[in-house]
Amino acid sequence: MSILVCPYCKSPLIDSAERTYVCENKHSFDLAKQGYLNLLPVNQKRSKDPGDNQMMISARREFLELGFYDPLIESIKSLVAAKLSFSSPNIIAFDAGCGEGYYSQKALNELPGLSTKIWGTDISKHAVKNAAGKYKSNFYFVSSIYNLPVADASVDLILSVFSPVMEEEFKRILSTQGYAIVVSPAPNHLREIAELIYENFRPHTTNILEKMSATFQHLHRERTSFKIEMGSAEEVLSLLKMTPYYWSTAQERLENITKKTELSVSCDFNIDIFGQ
Ligand SMILES: C[S@@+](CC[C@H](N)C(=O)[O-])C[C@H]1O[C@@H](n2cnc3c(N)ncnc32)[C@H](O)[C@@H]1O
Ligand SMILES: [Zn+2]
Repeated sequence: MSILVCPYCKSPLIDSAERTYVCENKHSFDLAKQGYLNLLPVNQKRSKDPGDNQMMISARREFLELGFYDPLIESIKSLVAAKLSFSSPNIIAFDAGCGEGYYSQKALNELPGLSTKIWGTDISKHAVKNAAGKYKSNFYFVSSIYNLPVADASVDLILSVFSPVMEEEFKRILSTQGYAIVVSPAPNHLREIAELIYENFRPHTTNILEKMSATFQHLHRERTSFKIEMGSAEEVLSLLKMTPYYWSTAQERLENITKKTELSVSCDFNIDIFGQ
């Protein structure tokens, strides 16, 4: 069953013939070649090409597929098994700010004891195109988490990894027994990279708890920390390229990192679970 509603009039979006989705008011949306829908109304675009660009998306995919962050995925899966309970093993999971889809595929698939139908959205059409092109059994669409074209109470589990959160929309789309898992950087995340760029390292802070706690019950926080060992200049560069530092720092400041052939880097994540 579809969780999608029309972004204009909010009535259900129906998969009609000829790769087109329509609502009862005849708003229609064509399925792109890669199998995704663009449900972001033009008047909700803050820029011509919102969200991460294709270079950022490719860099994220290249790094994530090296597997360095997979311990995070194992932590998410273990937490779902240990802390969450669902009334049915068939659940609808939703990746909010899915990027190129690595987490929806690796973390939400094969959750122990659960059979998951996976949906994902991102405001970047490049992200969604890459996710849909690779992970064919999940359904991806372009939209903003601030105005989701998703029916009320239609989702059992939201996953948000390093993406903006919008608590009211998360609350609206979650079923009464649904959960939201939010992953954000903990204080020492990528500390060694930041230390090579800035004179003074400032530990990460997050306002996730303040933001989410007015709307949700905070059920659990797990801090997952591990070191990753980069063994070549290519690996160091692929990590650097998926950080905001690479895109916002002058090239000469990055040179003492891009020349490195070995680097040990701290990864530090907070995984927060929210319920109703
Ligand atoms: C740091 S990336 C994380 C992507 C993915 N979760 C991952 O960890 O690989 C943040 C993502 O949020 C997306 N994003 C930014 N603003 C958004 C919004 N208002 N609605 C949906 N996605 C948004 C960006 O396009 C980008 O793909
Ligand atoms: Zn409509």
